[in-house]
Amino acid sequence: MALLFSPFTLKGVTLRNRIVMSPMTMYRSVDGHANDFHVMHMGARAAGGFGLLFPEQIAITPDGRTTVHCGGLYDDSQIAGWKRTTDLVKAMGGVSAIQLGHTGRKGSAVAPWEGGHQISADHPEGWTCKAPSAVPHGADHPHPVDELTVEEIKGIHEAYAAAAVRAVEAGYEWIEMHYAHGYLGASFFSPIANQRTDSYGGSLENRVRFHTEALDAVRSVIPERIPLTMRLGADDLHPAGATMDEAVAAISLMKEHGLDMADVSAGFNTPEMDGTPLGQPMGFLSRALRVKREVGIPVGVSWNLGVPANAERAVSEGLDLVFLGRPALANPHWPVWAARELGHESPFDLVPEDYGWWLKNFRGHAPSIGWPEPSTIDLDASAESSAQSTAAGVPQQARHQSTATAAH
Ligand SMILES: Cc1cc2nc3c(=O)[nH]c(=O)nc-3n(C[C@H](O)[C@H](O)[C@H](O)COP(=O)(O)O)c2cc1C
Repeated sequence: MALLFSPFTLKGVTLRNRIVMSPMTMYRSVDGHANDFHVMHMGARAAGGFGLLFPEQIAITPDGRTTVHCGGLYDDSQIAGWKRTTDLVKAMGGVSAIQLGHTGRKGSAVAPWEGGHQISADHPEGWTCKAPSAVPHGADHPHPVDELTVEEIKGIHEAYAAAAVRAVEAGYEWIEMHYAHGYLGASFFSPIANQRTDSYGGSLENRVRFHTEALDAVRSVIPERIPLTMRLGADDLHPAGATMDEAVAAISLMKEHGLDMADVSAGFNTPEMDGTPLGQPMGFLSRALRVKREVGIPVGVSWNLGVPANAERAVSEGLDLVFLGRPALANPHWPVWAARELGHESPFDLVPEDYGWWLKNFRGHAPSIGWPEPSTIDLDASAESSAQSTAAGVPQQARHQSTATAAH
């Protein structure tokens, strides 16, 4: 059997396979609440066979949202809506994870289809963003930001802990801290965004203090059985930014503070980043495997792992979990498709019996049921050709712009 479909246990939680629906902001909430859309979004992918499922970055404070349409757990009234999604995910055999975050200097924005840019504090749906230093992100996020005081940093850690308590009450069994993609955790880690001269800036140890304190705050209020993980903007992909050497050291420090797994991603701390790896198949895999080797902690990674053979290769090379973003949007049954492509002996066991029994036992004219037969294309070769076409076909600057504005 493909390794992608082997179970994975972390702390007191066992996943049915290594396939994760990566956190994806949906811009569908009103006042941070989940609604029918989120129930459909999560339920469909859980029924489609994903092992671990994230909704989106969930804000720990109202000004920690990207837009006013983003999800939150900063108020007790928000618990019940998210619990509807976790109940359904559990009933479908999946495990619900939450990504707790604060958007920092990338907040106060409008949805991507409205331009994705930041709006000023005097706009009815805007606010003044807070960040490690009073340095705006730039380009589409040009508005002045306030430097956080030490007192305010303590308040953010308390907000993390309060949101974590609500998350457990809402049925989440896995907590990830969002320290990537230009948001608050990413900006504390990055020398581009963090220009503080106090104990939260300067040396690597100081630039990771925000993260270790937040991990301590959350670990102290959640049950031991719940994995505590984080997504790090491990590489700023910019000469003045955070590097993989620093990321390895930072993750080692976080491991001492109870970190159970690292999800390795990019910093997105400047619109000037070189986004080339983010356009390539398995573009961040080698960085994640380095963390696994050098820190000795379970690792997950996203970015262009949606070709089943590539996802399988990632696990066979040592990756613990494969995070899928866009493939999960494109195909809620991606795990079933991948199982068929990878020769799984019973792919329809991945869906609820209500569907699976019919698909296994009442096949009739098999191609007509709507599941294409496994493809005959050489998936490895297609990965190589898509790498070449990405590198050759898209103008460098356009690639940078699209990746820099797209990440959440
Ligand atoms: C619509 C959309 C929303 C996203 N929102 C988030 C988010 O809330 N938190 C996060 O860490 N990453 C977010 N991402 C990034 C994905 O989690 C993932 O890392 C990225 O899409 C790369 O994986 P992929 O190549 O499988 O799409 C988002 C991506 C998309 C497409």
